[in-house]
Amino acid sequence: MASFWTDHKLAILILIVMASMQPRGSRAADEDPLQDFCVKDTTQQIHVNGFVCKDPAQVQASDFTSAVLKNPGNTSNVLGLAVTAANALTFGGLNTQGVSIARIDIAQNGLNPPHVHPRAAELLYLAQGTLLVGFVTSTPDNKLFALKINAGEVFIFPRGLVHFQLNVGYGTALAFSSFNSQNQGTSQLAKALFASNPPTNDAVLEKALQLSAADVQRLRALISKT
Ligand SMILES: *[C@@H]1O[C@H](CO)[C@@H](O)[C@H](O)[C@H]1NC(C)=O
Repeated sequence: MASFWTDHKLAILILIVMASMQPRGSRAADEDPLQDFCVKDTTQQIHVNGFVCKDPAQVQASDFTSAVLKNPGNTSNVLGLAVTAANALTFGGLNTQGVSIARIDIAQNGLNPPHVHPRAAELLYLAQGTLLVGFVTSTPDNKLFALKINAGEVFIFPRGLVHFQLNVGYGTALAFSSFNSQNQGTSQLAKALFASNPPTNDAVLEKALQLSAADVQRLRALISKT
């Protein structure tokens, strides 16, 4: 009498192979920790993927708290924007935990300009004000998803996609964004193109954006002030 295994051997083997082929990216954004915690040792200059752990015997309760988000950032700038991040760079207790949080203050009519976070999705909670938020899907669709959100609402910016936040309300907007990475990284599009160091070759910018040499110079001067 044929068993379930002999009847379905091929189907079962195919399922096992397909399961093992699931991309790693379908798990959390950051690697899983290998110990309870790994508070960043600020005395170490060693560069690894993340930061070297402080001696656990020296770790204190205060290593797991931070006040960096307590005060409003200074929005007196061209964009009317202040992003204050509590990530592994500024809050060592987050090292290896795969999460971080930022405070975003945006003055009236201010803008958090189009940017991407290469290592994290962003879950934004709007505590105060009204924002026009949006993101654009990857090429070739480049579909824009944008809408106004009000205080108390949340919005998810998918990992790695270009997104923005424009204050369209009255007065300052205050948002808190959490990320599924200890170090989300930020690449602001305008700055990456027009304020790189050293400057991106004129020929690249002229061709990519169909600009004249004069346009490129003008944009470099403008973007360097943002
Ligand atoms: C905010 O930034 C502006 C421009 O850099 C500066 O002039 C001003 O003193 C800053 N305000 C505070 C309270 O730090």
